Amino acid sequence: MSNYHIKHLEEYYQVYRKSVRNPEGFWEEIAEEHFLWRKKWDKVLSWDFSKPEVKWFEGAQLNITENCIDRHLATRGEKTAILFEPNNPDEAAQHITYNELYKRVNKFANVLKVQGINKGDRVCIYLPMIPELAVSVLACARIGAIHSVVFAGFSSTALSTRINDSDCKMVLTSDGSYRGAKTIDLKGIVDEALESCPGVKSVLVAKRINTEINMVSGRDAWLQPLLDNASEHCDAELMNAEDPLFILYTSGSTGKPKGMVHTTAGYMVYTAYTFKNVFQYRENDVYWCTADIGWITGHSYIVYGPLVNGATSVMFEGVPSYPDFGRFWDIVQKHKVNQFYTAPTAIRALAKQGAELVEKYDLSSLKVLGSVGEPINEEAWHWYNDNVGKRNSPIVDTWWQTETGGIMISPIPYSTPTKPTYATLPFIGIQPALMDENGDELKDNQVEGRLCIKYPWPSIARTIWGNHQRYKETYFSAYENKYFTGDGALRDEVGYYRITGRVDDVIIVSGHNLGTAPIEDAVNEHPAVAESAIVGFPHDVKGSALYGYVTLKDTGESRDQNNLRKEINQIITESIGPIAKLDKIQFTSGLPKTRSGKIMRRILRKIAQKDTANLGDTSTLLNPEVVQEIMDNVL
Ligand code: WTA
Repeated sequence: MSNYHIKHLEEYYQVYRKSVRNPEGFWEEIAEEHFLWRKKWDKVLSWDFSKPEVKWFEGAQLNITENCIDRHLATRGEKTAILFEPNNPDEAAQHITYNELYKRVNKFANVLKVQGINKGDRVCIYLPMIPELAVSVLACARIGAIHSVVFAGFSSTALSTRINDSDCKMVLTSDGSYRGAKTIDLKGIVDEALESCPGVKSVLVAKRINTEINMVSGRDAWLQPLLDNASEHCDAELMNAEDPLFILYTSGSTGKPKGMVHTTAGYMVYTAYTFKNVFQYRENDVYWCTADIGWITGHSYIVYGPLVNGATSVMFEGVPSYPDFGRFWDIVQKHKVNQFYTAPTAIRALAKQGAELVEKYDLSSLKVLGSVGEPINEEAWHWYNDNVGKRNSPIVDTWWQTETGGIMISPIPYSTPTKPTYATLPFIGIQPALMDENGDELKDNQVEGRLCIKYPWPSIARTIWGNHQRYKETYFSAYENKYFTGDGALRDEVGYYRITGRVDDVIIVSGHNLGTAPIEDAVNEHPAVAESAIVGFPHDVKGSALYGYVTLKDTGESRDQNNLRKEINQIITESIGPIAKLDKIQFTSGLPKTRSGKIMRRILRKIAQKDTANLGDTSTLLNPEVVQEIMDNVL
């Protein structure tokens, strides 16, 4: 019997030790017993972090959709796989059974084939949170096409950059999307993006909001008629363990977004195993992750992890504030949700509304509460624990990344005693290390350092699409023979981890990772702007918000600062998306720089955070006088 389902703390420690002593043996056992393989592997793991290269289950063949769907049909055919809750609460929820999902995915897969999509082709999915999004992801996987889902809140420029980077042949989208009381013209955004994407041959459009849209003849087609004519059976493509399953873009501190590549077998095994244990999912539970499938959390813990386990996964189209801030709790009550997984920024926004909106609803179905995306502050943790969980549902504070594919540090509910703001213990098979400034590993407890992982786990991203060198530099160059996460962390006296936040120029705003460099590039596009620097500052709902320091070109003209602020944010919205807008923009005559000309972000960060007691030595700056000017005018 393998240790697929861990039920108490001693068992966790015992399985953890086993997984670390003999990782290959451990993962082989898990893989053997819980998945459908068309051919078993020749070798469990080969790896070399200096290249870097990681391969799991080499020689194995499978299709992940047979694991997500086909193999459940005999026993769970009429069980709900995806429970779709629309934006508008008056619109009926859809219970898509495994049988129904099988048909929908196969039809969609056949449509992709007819449209000329082959194994290995990239398909960009730019869809709102409607069933077609989950179905199209699985349809790509069914035929071995590589999906690249782009969050449907990104701008046309951000979309075209991602389409071109991975050379997508096709875009899947909808006429538009609902977002609370608003609608968004998605097809219009796609049309604009495609003006600079010559590689895209076809666009398939789902109907959602029934608006009149422009269809480009020879390129665009409505999805539904094609699906209506497609067969319900599509043989699953035989995939090698290390064939890419998907690309998902994440922001780096510099340069263009990184297309993280995840492969098939290891990703499947790890997301399934973490899902089962971190959420303690049991057969008839209803599980709900509020993320968007446009992010890794949605890929791993709305689609793949739950479906591989034959779970019922809720997919919510709307926002927490519509029609009012009670919506999440209304959904929990309505669908008797057992596991609820959300982000600290949502918890803080809901906490602000007071507890009355929570108390109106029956939340007694809840058994496990999850948090992901950024450090959860103590106040939000307690609010969540007291008001939502009624101190009865353990909180799993799950730390992980787009790059890690699955949850890396997390309590196992009902086993690991929780501690506010601590992600607690490494998950089975995960070997974290904290590093000091000299690059040495801190081996004791009660230390703080930079968080690395010492040994490969099955769902580590294998490369950055088209740029393996950047993959190596970003993750494997800071510390020899270790994966560097970009996060800082501390380890307490019992070995619990607390993530302290990013140590690079990535800022997490409302759970979205934003690199400062691309935003600065956007700001600098404004004709009046000479230079800019962006830092984060604490925000009570977003966690962090963006603060921009901007110097203007000396044109002799005077400009209205508020208009400039609006124009700058407009450019950011167009080039990245509204999530990257600056909360505060301070105009200044200069930016503090080192003698080699580097902007001293550390100082700017402290000023924006109103933490100027200890600015450090500024006398070595090229222009120390601007520091005082900036402090005097801080917003
Ligand atoms: C941060 C999201 C503290 C962290 C799955 C990481 C967290 C980045 C937590 C990855 C957590 C995520 N506690 N920080 N529980 N979860 N982070 O790629 O800085 O969108 O490096 O993946 O979010 O964000 P990403």
